[in-house]
Amino acid sequence: METLVNTPIDYNLVKQKIKESKLTNIGKASIREILSLINSIENESGIKFIRMEMGVPGLPACDIGINAEANALKMGIASKYPNIEGVPELKREISRFVNLFLDIEVPQKCCFPCTGSTNGSFISFLTLGRIDKRKDTVLFLDPGFPVHKQQLSVIGINQTNLDVYKYRGEKLRDKLESILSKGNVSCLLYSNPNNPSWICFTEKELKIIGELCSKYDVIPIEDLAYFNMDFRKDYSKPGLPPHQPTVARHNENYIILISSSKIFSYAGQRIGCIVVSENLYDRDYPDLLRNYSSPNFGHSLVYGAAYAVSAGVTHSTQFAFAAMLKAVNDGDYNFIDEVKVYGQRAKIMKKMFTENGFKIVYEHDEGDPIADGFYFTVSYPSFTGEELIEKLLYYGISAISLSNTGSLRKEGIRVCVSLVSDEQLPELETRLRLFNENHKN
Ligand SMILES: Cc1ncc(COP(=O)(O)O)c(C=O)c1O
Repeated sequence: METLVNTPIDYNLVKQKIKESKLTNIGKASIREILSLINSIENESGIKFIRMEMGVPGLPACDIGINAEANALKMGIASKYPNIEGVPELKREISRFVNLFLDIEVPQKCCFPCTGSTNGSFISFLTLGRIDKRKDTVLFLDPGFPVHKQQLSVIGINQTNLDVYKYRGEKLRDKLESILSKGNVSCLLYSNPNNPSWICFTEKELKIIGELCSKYDVIPIEDLAYFNMDFRKDYSKPGLPPHQPTVARHNENYIILISSSKIFSYAGQRIGCIVVSENLYDRDYPDLLRNYSSPNFGHSLVYGAAYAVSAGVTHSTQFAFAAMLKAVNDGDYNFIDEVKVYGQRAKIMKKMFTENGFKIVYEHDEGDPIADGFYFTVSYPSFTGEELIEKLLYYGISAISLSNTGSLRKEGIRVCVSLVSDEQLPELETRLRLFNENHKN
């Protein structure tokens, strides 16, 4: 019991701040609510938390983007509405990028900017959710990013989910088929690497997903917010294998979402892109006419959904994204070199957690240990994830529970490594050791 022991932050102070926050269940609180609680504990106690709750970049923004954006602004683009389809420079570089790094051919006309991949998924749901009146449901391969679920609630589209924890490898096939064969799913979404668990679907699993999506005419949305950030393999050489596994090599109809937020630490500028396979782009769906002026998928996505949502994407950020992608495509800039520090830090942090009584929850990719990257998930014996979040507050450690990620692993919490500095690592170890000493049986 914390009341009896020496916790790094005064027990009574944390208790009082929790009470003042009026949050009945800390483990269920949103990231923003936890943030404000921690700020107030830090202010009062003068002790810094080890912050692992926010999935934000911990590195400076890529200056290739900043310079390109500043130049574009100086050239006067701020006064002009951006072309709804995206500036040609960006469309060209997106098409090159997916060709060089995913080994797929997507024409420029099928590559569009969006204000971050969150906006890309919203636009995709607005369109895919309306292609077929019999298909009124979106499937999430979970655990996943809570905002995606919120997007569907906001627009009133049904959702269902599958926590893939027990269904990796060949086991995925039957389970997924049992859902898709009902015939009510329009599209499915997963992130790869995955937020929050950092599992990465293997080529074999993506083939299963691709084949079943073809069989039941379901459109996969592959959210690559952490593009190429599975550091177990070197995916960083433009045009050279190995390439990150993708469903796009196993299905003719797909959408890929790419974000600048993590790969270029450009989260503040809200720029990403939607890549639609040419086959899907050209398809006609008569049911789209219920909401859009054309049955054509590509037209409805761009001139129906994207236009309605934001009437274009901030002009200057498009030039920033184009310049960063061009530098990567030309082999002049290797973003993996910049972000692999997250993997190195995760490796150290995982060891600290597991040596102090914690277990990795989503532990394997088809039998292989998961990669070290931006996130990982842990549990501690006999606590639920929600309880654990609160218990860790007394130790000056913040994280989020897996409760609203669609995970069935109620014992799990998500650790994000991005904001933990190297200088904080010894302190993290000390706090985890103390936590374990106070709680082990
Ligand atoms: C899986 C996933 N998708 C999308 C996003 C958001 O990306 P963006 O900043 O481009 O909207 C995140 C950010 O945490 C994420 O984890």
